[in-house]
Amino acid sequence: MLLIKNIKQLLQVRQERLKWLAGSEMAGLPFLEDAYLYIEGDKIVDFGVMEDIKPGYLKAEIIDAEDKLVMPSFCDSHTHLVYAGSREMEYVDKIKGLSYEEIAKRGGGILNSVKLLQDTSEDELFRQSLPRIKEIIRMGTGAVEIKSGYGLTTKDELKMLRVIKRLNQETDLSIRSTFLGAHAVPAAFKNRRDDYVSIVINEMIPAVAAEGLADFVDVFCDRGFFTVEDTDKILSAAAGYGLRPKIHANELDYSGGIQVGVKHDALSVDHLEYTGEKEIDSLLGSETMPTLLPGASFFLGMVNPPARKMIDAGLPIALASDFNPGSSPSGNMKMIMSFACVDLRMTPEEAINAVTINTAYAMGLEKEMGSISRGKTASLIITKKVPGYQFLPYAYGSDLVDTIILNGKINAET
Ligand code: NIG
Ligand code: FE
Repeated sequence: MLLIKNIKQLLQVRQERLKWLAGSEMAGLPFLEDAYLYIEGDKIVDFGVMEDIKPGYLKAEIIDAEDKLVMPSFCDSHTHLVYAGSREMEYVDKIKGLSYEEIAKRGGGILNSVKLLQDTSEDELFRQSLPRIKEIIRMGTGAVEIKSGYGLTTKDELKMLRVIKRLNQETDLSIRSTFLGAHAVPAAFKNRRDDYVSIVINEMIPAVAAEGLADFVDVFCDRGFFTVEDTDKILSAAAGYGLRPKIHANELDYSGGIQVGVKHDALSVDHLEYTGEKEIDSLLGSETMPTLLPGASFFLGMVNPPARKMIDAGLPIALASDFNPGSSPSGNMKMIMSFACVDLRMTPEEAINAVTINTAYAMGLEKEMGSISRGKTASLIITKKVPGYQFLPYAYGSDLVDTIILNGKINAET
């Protein structure tokens, strides 16, 4: 049993069955002042204001959170954090003027990470990825989705997914995995994209499903990568194995990715820099979470997605880090909130909703994570002493995490 008492603001207090927050609902962030939170095992059992605390709770192990905030852990619903090596030389090329697409055309970009990963053993890949997991735990993430997509052969895609599985088993993070065989056309299939798509469908998806290695399927549906037709075929095949889509769409153009995602009842469509009226219309009324990745727009200096237009149209918005070696080499979700506030004109309340309950939905975890609700998993951030929740995105470079609770346990590394 664990009691957190004297909490200055207990944020994101919600009823248990909340699905997501959309449109004007995103502006609301319910919180209690001078509050307590009571945990048994790995679950949130009770919470309220200090005045009403039950005397029995004071027998538990106690954390005093005076002048501190408590909020649910971040859920990061889109990352590629299993990778080999790094790509800071491309960063330098970008500074000197090359675009993301130009770098990709020269065999850099994703294909650069593919070469590095193919030359790395499974154990070594695990060893390189583990510090990233530890880093995002310290920064407040409690659940993360990780994609494959730097293997691009059946053997190497399976290797990546096995590493993701092992990270889930051996760390305290809740991890969901996504098969992204259609991330780029491998060099060996240059000008033979159809042949590669056949391998994804006929070889990779069945092999991934046979080992139960993926929760979701992804396709990079965009200009210069995979077409709407390719995506349609891959998502149809994956549906036969129970893999729901979470796809990369409309990062580089009005690619039709959003519409094909919605057609296949994607759990999320992600990036969405190029979102117009047609795309917004197709998302309205769907079960698909529009997910924005402002770290990638920031890092690549690209156009921003029209977040305000989307919220004003009544859509929900989730925000994820896209942690990957090419377009967003950071899993700092607090910084993602700051980018969303500054670049996308989202308010702190909208940003906090977008990195908790809405990302929990975007990875199928909304029943367990994303809010302070009775019966949900006790994965929490206790902040340092701060004036109030608006300070979190405002102080964009400060480490404001004091203590991390994961699955009811105080994390030793914070
Ligand atoms: O989400 N857009 C496609 N894939 C990744 C980039 C991966 C990379 O550059 O290595 C993304 O930005
Ligand atoms: Fe991505």
